[in-house]
Amino acid sequence: MTLRQHPKIELHLHLEGAAPPAFIRGLSQEKKIDISGIFDERGHYAYRDFWHFLKVYEAATSVLVTPMDYHRLTLAVLEQSAENGVIYGETFLSPDFCGGRDLGAWREYLHAIEEAAAIARIQMGITLRGIVTPIRHFGPDKAREVAVCAAETAGAFVTGFGIAGDEKVCEPADFAWSFDCAREAGLGITAHAGEWRGPDHIRATLKALNPTRMGHGVRAIEDLALVDELAERGTVLEVCPGSNIALGIYPDWRKHPIGQLFDRGVKVTVSTDDPPFFHTSLTREWDRLADAFDWDAGVFATLNRTALDAAFCDRDTKETLA
Ligand code: ADE
Ligand code: ZN
Repeated sequence: MTLRQHPKIELHLHLEGAAPPAFIRGLSQEKKIDISGIFDERGHYAYRDFWHFLKVYEAATSVLVTPMDYHRLTLAVLEQSAENGVIYGETFLSPDFCGGRDLGAWREYLHAIEEAAAIARIQMGITLRGIVTPIRHFGPDKAREVAVCAAETAGAFVTGFGIAGDEKVCEPADFAWSFDCAREAGLGITAHAGEWRGPDHIRATLKALNPTRMGHGVRAIEDLALVDELAERGTVLEVCPGSNIALGIYPDWRKHPIGQLFDRGVKVTVSTDDPPFFHTSLTREWDRLADAFDWDAGVFATLNRTALDAAFCDRDTKETLA
């Protein structure tokens, strides 16, 4: 079996960040919203650095206006995932973009996304769950409103809560109320950290937000005592190597710390983050890792097992997928 065909579990994917550029361009033409500046001459998303990436991401998202737009987006994204062998995925969803944190509107967007996920389950054999996610640089007050949307809609589809956006803005403790609210509603907890800030910020995130999973977390490698602590705690890292390399955090695949983290006993998993922005797919991530670290199908089976164990879904769903 080739790596492309191998069944895969993906825990870290931003729904808008996975939007094919042609899909976003098509919507912008339908709605007559001019976002031509976000594409390069080949029609790919174009950005200069992480901050600009966030702005381009928000501009692309500005053409996703109605619940039906999100329905179509979900189908387009899941089609790509299924082509890469993904059988179970989790996606970050932001009430900030879906109805401006209004609970009634959020329910409508969610319904449209869930309906698309149900179609994809039948037609493509892929199962999806949602992780509700405030955007960090929108600030802690908005994050509280997002947490209320998450808590009110926690259930079979919305199973997790996280935080994305500019990691350099605010401190983890500023978001503690939101995370406590989500945890009390029974949601699984993850947080982006250790992508743009180092070990101290990872420690502060563990202390204030107590996540069982962490988005990226790779800069733990700068402090081996922290690496050992992550291994002991069993914190699962949602590592997105192609994203880190495209954004310039690491120069190439061989210098990416995922190999060292794995060898030292940290529970690592592999995801794509925002695949068209980084010219990647989950198959490409696996191929590059196989080349860089000599990983064979046995290693990928271990990573997949780790991801399934850490997935924010019920035991029955896990058993069907195992
Ligand atoms: N939102 C989308 N991609 C992201 C990333 N890599 N880091 C933080 N927030 C994001
Ligand atoms: Zn991410």
